[in-house]
Amino acid sequence: MRELFLYAHRGASVEAPENTLVAFRRALEVGADGIELDVHLSADGVPVVIHDETLERTTDGVGPVASHGSEELQTLDAGFWFDPHFAGEPLPTLEETLSLLAGRLRLNLEVKDSRAGLAVVALLRHFPTADVVLSSFDYGLLARLRRAAPDLPLAVLLDAGNWQRALVRAEALRACAFHPRADLVSRPLMAACRRLQLPVFPWTVDTPAQARGLVRMGVAGLFTNDPAGLRGFFPSPTA
Ligand code: G3P
Ligand code: MG
Repeated sequence: MRELFLYAHRGASVEAPENTLVAFRRALEVGADGIELDVHLSADGVPVVIHDETLERTTDGVGPVASHGSEELQTLDAGFWFDPHFAGEPLPTLEETLSLLAGRLRLNLEVKDSRAGLAVVALLRHFPTADVVLSSFDYGLLARLRRAAPDLPLAVLLDAGNWQRALVRAEALRACAFHPRADLVSRPLMAACRRLQLPVFPWTVDTPAQARGLVRMGVAGLFTNDPAGLRGFFPSPTA
């Protein structure tokens, strides 16, 4: 069986509410090699872990994340929407998340709000043992992060459009990885990444058949909502 680096996408998000500590603990339990999580900024400048710009889909709050203070955000229920069993599961701050996970597995912090970038870099100074990769669809933000932190591991995300242009940006940023949407992966894309010595981690892949196809093309790992399901087929390269 081929080893494969598995990032739990928003934690073990088929089993538990995405981007919560319970989903992250589950990812650890089932042997994920890394966890991907999404970062926004509260009104008072605190990085918090949630995917959407607004609160409605995954919490009992209303309106933009950025218009609420961090204390208020921490009182929200981010579990009930997924299953009543998870009622009361809070919306985590990035600091709480790093306190739980730093040093235990790799963390891919996907920065959703361009204002959050420098706050994340400042917070990471308190977690020197954290193995982190920061990623974003916003290449301007990645360039600002690179200027602020010359050695910070950065990854370029791509969800549509021209992968050649994305790779030019990745090279200029000295990115450590390329994170394309899974259906964009092709043999020419993989050949170009090999030439740049740029590991490829596609998202989001939940079936062994799709994962096998991508492994054959040479991906270094992938993002899955179901790390428990895929781990049974692909041993960990980090165990
Ligand atoms: O980081 C990979 C993936 O999470 C990007 O898309 O919308 O799931 O955050 P999204
Ligand atoms: Mg994400």
